[in-house]
Amino acid sequence: MKKGEDIEFIKEGKRVDGRGFDELRDIKIEVGVLKRADGSCYLELGNNKVIAAVYGPREMHPRHAQDAKMAVVKFRYNMAPFSVDDRKRPGPDRRSVEISKVSREAVEPVIIKEYYPKTAIEVYVEILQSDAGTRTAGINAASVALADAGIPMKDLVSSVAVGKVGGEVVLDLNAVEDNYGEADMPIAMIARRNVITALQMDGRMTKEEIEKGLKLAMNACHQIYELQRTALLKRYDSSEDRAA
Ligand code: CDP
Repeated sequence: MKKGEDIEFIKEGKRVDGRGFDELRDIKIEVGVLKRADGSCYLELGNNKVIAAVYGPREMHPRHAQDAKMAVVKFRYNMAPFSVDDRKRPGPDRRSVEISKVSREAVEPVIIKEYYPKTAIEVYVEILQSDAGTRTAGINAASVALADAGIPMKDLVSSVAVGKVGGEVVLDLNAVEDNYGEADMPIAMIARRNVITALQMDGRMTKEEIEKGLKLAMNACHQIYELQRTALLKRYDSSEDRAA
């Protein structure tokens, strides 16, 4: 594998995979793909393939962890062993614990938890194939799966990463850009209100670059929101039964 400094990130205004600076990877969203879950979503973001499943609201166990005033939201992000280049050791690790927490915080603000005291709403995100941006893909899928489960929500949450590669601020980094680029900033937002619900950053960007990145992310989240909405409408406009 080349070292970061050997990679020509930008060539004639295009990125390593031929995209422009403000271009998303292809996104595919399918709703209601799992029969056993209350809500589910399969999502592809470029070469990322993720599945989200939602259960609940259902009785919260252990009972001492119940909240008498509202539902408790649980979020588990997990990478399949075969989702990365080298086999990933199964089970939770520091990274997945962190991403689970951040992803929960990203979707929680839109869930009307007060409607279901003492219950749990459980979100599971499984990464089947990864190519950077898995947390953003997981948040997008989780948001759709929550809606599919009929969880009362104020809105959908959409998510994308921006970053800096080859000195340029770019949208939706792929694995080479994420691993060897200068900065990576995953963002989740309620697109229709331009409200940010999660923001992280690795690396360095100037204030101007961050502002530029935020603008790119806002535009992209509006596009993602439309794709999420269209996928949900497609699911509920059709008369087909739930996944067999
Ligand atoms: O996936 P995301 O960008 O949200 O998180 P990251 O920690 O920045 O990881 C970037 C990419 O590195 C992942 O999407 C995977 O493709 C890769 N990765 C890996 O190959 N093995 C791991 N144990 C963790 C990440």
